[in-house]
Amino acid sequence: MLIKQEIMKKIVVIGGGNMGFTYAEGIYNAKIANIEIIDKSDDRVAEINGMNKMKASTTYDALNDADIIFLAVKPQIAPLVFGDIKPIVNKDQLFVSVMAGMTIETIQQGLDIDKVIRCMPNLPASIQLGMTTYVGSKEVAKENLDLVGSILKSTGKAFEVKTEDMIDNTTGISGSGSAYIFYFMNAMAEAAEDIGFNPKEAKTLVSQTFEGAIELYKQNDISLEEWMNRVASKGGTTREALNSFDADNVHQHIKGGVNACIRRAKELGAK
Ligand SMILES: NC(=O)c1ccc[n+]([C@@H]2O[C@H](COP(=O)([O-])OP(=O)(O)OC[C@H]3O[C@@H](n4cnc5c(N)ncnc54)[C@H](OP(=O)(O)O)[C@@H]3O)[C@@H](O)[C@H]2O)c1
Repeated sequence: MLIKQEIMKKIVVIGGGNMGFTYAEGIYNAKIANIEIIDKSDDRVAEINGMNKMKASTTYDALNDADIIFLAVKPQIAPLVFGDIKPIVNKDQLFVSVMAGMTIETIQQGLDIDKVIRCMPNLPASIQLGMTTYVGSKEVAKENLDLVGSILKSTGKAFEVKTEDMIDNTTGISGSGSAYIFYFMNAMAEAAEDIGFNPKEAKTLVSQTFEGAIELYKQNDISLEEWMNRVASKGGTTREALNSFDADNVHQHIKGGVNACIRRAKELGAK
């Protein structure tokens, strides 16, 4: 059965935390479908219902007539949730998982269902600047894959990848990548404070520098190396900083960090 947008009744998100709520809100704001949230915490459910936007509950009743079910609980909680909902869900329903490291096969077996789309989002999805990649099991029709793609785009950018391996690879770049940027920013902000700027000034200096560089990169078809050369003239100040990074192999260390992250994502997936 294809789930067409015009006949879609309901999307249910299990887990009303950071990611689950972000997607629920994106779907709600885009008016794509009816949306309900299931969370096991009474307080969280009361908080969501108090916003007077989306309906939330602690019971799994909403799953009965759901067309698409988002799985947004922590991976270690998933076996418990699978045990609870397996008797309720059916093979016509489409499952979308944002759980890091949990394979499509594990979800299919855990729930005795077929149609699964696995995604790798990142934290800026909460401000519509997210980056998500996704891949579907072979049972997911192209139309449904495209439909979920458009839902994911309500939180930023999203594109399909061909294999689950590329989902783990995404973790190393965009999934965990925000933390690498914060790491670099943290070092620059600390350096700014060390040389006499106050924390507010350091935050402005660092964030505006990142924002400006990113916009230049996005708005022009110029390589990153060329951009570096445009800032760094021979014998000048910037070249001195870049030479110091190169002498310390910073470029290689960053790539090493990306690869360490991907190795860990694959390790967790294999467990
Ligand atoms: N945050 C990120 O940047 C990020 C990035 C990529 C992928 N992800 C993935 O997104 C998933 C969710 O992460 P998160 O950061 O959103 O976690 P989170 O904020 O802890 O949200 C999970 C929510 O699920 C609730 N929950 C726990 N057991 C439940 C149950 N049996 N039924 C319904 N709800 C239940 C939790 O309630 P309690 O708090 O009361 O336990 C919590 O509100 C994870 O699998 C993670 O791998 C997150």
